[in-house]
Amino acid sequence: MQNIEPTPIVSQTKVILVNSDKGGDMKTTTAVNVSMSINQKSYRKRGYRSLLINYESSDHASYAYGLDWKKCPTMFHVYRGEVSIEDAIQHTPYGDIIAGNNSVDYIDTLFKNVPFAEAAFKFKEQIARLKALRQYTHIFIDTQPLIRTLLPVQAVLATDYLVLPMQALPFSVLSLGKTSAAIEDAMKDNPNLKVAGVLLCRYGNTIEERGCKDSITKWATDKGIHVFKQPIRPGIAVATAQGRRRPLFDFVKFANAAKDYEIFTKELLRQVG
Ligand SMILES: Nc1ncnc2c1ncn2[C@@H]1O[C@H](COP(=O)(O)OP(=O)(O)OP(=O)(O)O)[C@@H](O)[C@H]1O
Ligand SMILES: [Mg+2]
Repeated sequence: MQNIEPTPIVSQTKVILVNSDKGGDMKTTTAVNVSMSINQKSYRKRGYRSLLINYESSDHASYAYGLDWKKCPTMFHVYRGEVSIEDAIQHTPYGDIIAGNNSVDYIDTLFKNVPFAEAAFKFKEQIARLKALRQYTHIFIDTQPLIRTLLPVQAVLATDYLVLPMQALPFSVLSLGKTSAAIEDAMKDNPNLKVAGVLLCRYGNTIEERGCKDSITKWATDKGIHVFKQPIRPGIAVATAQGRRRPLFDFVKFANAAKDYEIFTKELLRQVG
């Protein structure tokens, strides 16, 4: 599947990590939707172009992009020198992506004889090659939750902006202290990292959720962290589009979550340029 449009020369590539310290917080859904959104014709006409890196063995992002992902090279093969990062890029009708599959789980074995502090920069070195291509306005990274293991640390070091997807639920509120610690660690590792904001996902606006939203908003405001205005509403269309391997906005563009991700994309671009 090849794109036939000419490739624009972009002046700057922003690297955006969609991550939180928890599993199941809509990281992949958000990364996929925003990255696909930016690859719509209306954005491409304005010179936008995004790449998504499925930097974890969970292959959901690659599945959603319709890839034959088990056969695709991943960052594992790039580090092994079997393929260049440029050649690892898969071109799909929904945008460009570097696939993830089980091989990603073996990346740390490649660096077992390398000090952690050195291995931590290996992903950033590869991202620098992508930035030098000047083809992408935005590179999105989908990886394991923000814990102090190699892949998330590597991702943080390569990142310009962090987007924090979060659910407005009691357990999220209870673990805001842990989330603060994860953000502080990330900012210590990468002092240039900026937090683009918190995105409330699968938000149903129930009384319980409204209370949790208020607590999260207060926490964010105290920390000087932006909260994206439009929460992503819940809907079966999200999983259905993923199962059909189609972009949400294309599959059911009138679904609440589809509209919300469009609004989020605009706000994110205003935020990060
Ligand atoms: N707005 C929404 N409405 C309904 N379901 C949603 C919505 N957003 C995401 N989901 C569903 O929630 C589940 C978890 O989402 P997702 O896989 O994106 O989370 P994740 O943070 O990437 O998880 P993991 O930590 O396992 O990587 C998926 O089945 C997805 O289809
Ligand atoms: Mg995921």
